[in-house]
Amino acid sequence: MRITVFGAAGNVGSRVVAEALSRGHEVTAVVRDPARFHELPAAANARAGDAGKVEDVAELSAGEDVVISATRPASGSENELVTAARALLAGLTRTDVRLLVVGGAATLTVPGTGGTTVIDDPSLLSPAYRDLAQACTDQLEACRAEAGVDWAYLSPPALLKPGQRTGNYRLGNDELLVDADGNSTISMEDLAVALLDEAERPKHHRTRFTAAY
Ligand SMILES: NC(=O)c1ccc[n+]([C@@H]2O[C@H](COP(=O)([O-])OP(=O)(O)OC[C@H]3O[C@@H](n4cnc5c(N)ncnc54)[C@H](OP(=O)(O)O)[C@@H]3O)[C@@H](O)[C@H]2O)c1
Repeated sequence: MRITVFGAAGNVGSRVVAEALSRGHEVTAVVRDPARFHELPAAANARAGDAGKVEDVAELSAGEDVVISATRPASGSENELVTAARALLAGLTRTDVRLLVVGGAATLTVPGTGGTTVIDDPSLLSPAYRDLAQACTDQLEACRAEAGVDWAYLSPPALLKPGQRTGNYRLGNDELLVDADGNSTISMEDLAVALLDEAERPKHHRTRFTAAY
């Protein structure tokens, strides 16, 4: 497959690029600043572009099968996440290119709470991440408002950290996945596995899903 990854040098994006390359896909790895090209694997096609610019999205997605967005704005500019979601959707409207968005856990409901979402549960969300969580909420709303793109939004569990690639994960929909020990977590490597599995064998269309151990 031909896959474009925005945020390709980031924590999640770099693992998505590595996973896609390991599966033999043709990967266009997009960073905003060409000074970061050296951080990208040589096997990827390094390009500069901004997920918040419709013209960049249109140009870098032409002829691709899937666009994966794993961008995260700098602290204080959280709303750029929504700008990027809207630009990605606008750039892909009326194309056959799928959009897979790495989003946030904020809007997942917490099991056993009668519908409380992660963003409203202080035991799961530190106040330092409140603005990012709100931006992720708006990012998902932007996707849900778009009918002309085949998008899917992947909410990580509460904890998403660098770790091991095990290839194992469970899938869910709108509820936070918690394991038997009460942990809600996945490694970035396995989140990338879940994303690439979705890219290769689509199960989610115009909806959110989640993946965790
Ligand atoms: N539990 C959770 O819900 C959870 C936990 C962790 C992460 N996440 C989500 O996962 C996503 C990725 O996080 P991360 O940890 O990988 O972030 P990261 O390491 O900060 O990487 C994000 C990358 O996005 C790039 N970027 C930012 N804005 C961009 C734009 N408009 N166009 C193109 N590239 C852009 C940045 O590049 P430059 O700034 O260098 O250009 C950076 O390399 C985020 O959406 C984050 O909310 C969720």
